Amino acid sequence: HIPVITIDGPTASGKGTVAARVADRLGYHLLDSGALYRLTALSAMRAGVALDDEQGVAQLAQVLPASFSNGDIFLAGEEVGALIRAEEVGNNASKIAAFPSVRQALYALQLGFRKAPGLVADGRDMGTVIFPNARLKVFLTASVEARAERRYKQLIGKGFSANMDDLLADLQARDDRDTHRTVAPLVPAEGAYILDTSDMSVDEAVEQVLHWHTL
Ligand code: CDP
Repeated sequence: HIPVITIDGPTASGKGTVAARVADRLGYHLLDSGALYRLTALSAMRAGVALDDEQGVAQLAQVLPASFSNGDIFLAGEEVGALIRAEEVGNNASKIAAFPSVRQALYALQLGFRKAPGLVADGRDMGTVIFPNARLKVFLTASVEARAERRYKQLIGKGFSANMDDLLADLQARDDRDTHRTVAPLVPAEGAYILDTSDMSVDEAVEQVLHWHTL
């Protein structure tokens, strides 16, 4: 039985960083499920498929040529890890993620990440939909202000331009969409530990998750 740790939460809560560090510490595989939605959005943008064309986007998701290696993210062999972090791609990802047939198209791909010796899965519905029997479920959150500040630093650090007011508005819009959509809405999974990282460092959050893992 291969153990799974799910880390779900809202945008810019720091779950991606925490999930990667926990996976590293345990020698587990990592599933960045948000990257799959971002790659699907990027595919649609490049193929000229409209973002409100559910069937068209789902067809792209069904055959998504995604691969991951040592922290790099590839779409049809091209490294696009930095590109898919752009706010525009994130916002588009959040739009197409609301389509049931897109989520269905990415379901089997996500299950395939569960490999020995274990998996840390980062996303919105890892504990509720994809891995409901996970050994440990964490719901990682932070105040909207703390998250906007983190996203700001992350974007500036990657060489993108950013504006705090726009970011706050984007975050709230995305929270609203992720929480109120009809499929896989963002809610803590049953049995999930809630971790509010507003006043917590990444190290502290990582230690807390590792501690829960030993229980
Ligand atoms: O970094 P951030 O949290 O903004 O984004 P992400 O985790 O890369 O995910 C991008 C978008 O994909 C989110 O806004 C969600 O709408 C969607 N998503 C989802 O619906 N389900 C997941 N398991 C992961 C991401």
